Amino acid sequence: MSSHQITIRTQDGESVSFECLEDEDVISAGLRQDIFLMASCREGGCATCKGVCTEGDYEIGKVSVQALPPEEEEDGYVLLCRCYPSSDMEVEVPYTYDRISFSPEGLGFEAEIVNLRDVSSNVVELKLLRRGDDKQIKLDSGQFYDLEIPGTSLTRSYSPANTANNRGELDFLVRIVDKGKFSSFLQYDAFVGQTINVKGPFGVFGLKENGFTPRYFVAGGTGLAPILSMVRRMREWDEPQNCAIYFGVNTEEEVFYADVLQHLQQEMPKLKVNICVWKASESWCGEKGSVVDILRRDLKDLGIKPDLYLCGPPGMVDATYAVCAELGIPSQQIFLEKFLPSTN
Ligand code: FES
Repeated sequence: MSSHQITIRTQDGESVSFECLEDEDVISAGLRQDIFLMASCREGGCATCKGVCTEGDYEIGKVSVQALPPEEEEDGYVLLCRCYPSSDMEVEVPYTYDRISFSPEGLGFEAEIVNLRDVSSNVVELKLLRRGDDKQIKLDSGQFYDLEIPGTSLTRSYSPANTANNRGELDFLVRIVDKGKFSSFLQYDAFVGQTINVKGPFGVFGLKENGFTPRYFVAGGTGLAPILSMVRRMREWDEPQNCAIYFGVNTEEEVFYADVLQHLQQEMPKLKVNICVWKASESWCGEKGSVVDILRRDLKDLGIKPDLYLCGPPGMVDATYAVCAELGIPSQQIFLEKFLPSTN
């Protein structure tokens, strides 16, 4: 059987090469040779394995258009889990060499559920503690982990709201969705003391250095988790720039962590928090209306162009991106993570 040489170039100028057989996707070829490139769903749905092909020919299998929009595909972007080379190939990936693991255990560990509680009408807070002697949680704020539903091989991806630590702590916010597999597990089967297999961290969403440019964070629902992690990281590093969080939900019953946000604002004088309720009642005293419209109002009056970090459902992220583009914020200053629907 013929094979092709694949070279993966990382952001820090390093590279790794391996063989890929005919009819084999690049992620599987790497795995066969103990090269664990960044990947999560392995079925074209999550975009974790995205890179850009700089040389070579290939076919792309079935992918979600959310994960690989047609215009990106035209520009040479590929999802490596659905990329079948027909020649030698070179691919640039948006992460550094240390994100590639060379052993199957590299990224997996066991954790124990230490707390579970409802924080709003549709969000559960799930706190985990890493088991074993190694308590290191090596995380770039904004990244996510895959959590496996015990007794199955099904995983779901969630970003922690906390920052890297040596205490083994991981705090997640999970939206409860009707008939969702992880939702059903949390509602009916999960208990304190239970063990969950965790893998990660994955993803490239995170803080970018840009001098003293202000940072604006826009979160829809549980998109608040990676945003909180990034803002908490800024607090740990005493970063001096202005920043603002725009947190959008549909109804007041869906608001969570108002106290956490208020506390953060007290600790960070340069932080402004806006909780935006779309269908608010008369008595709601925060912002009323869509988070996108409220952000547009504030950006118009701002006079400067902040960096934007967007996280939440695709509709909200796309609408916010469009507003930023309309107001002249360059695409290099907009960083985003969409919650893509599960495919299994
Ligand atoms: S791992 Fe390739 S799209 Fe999810």
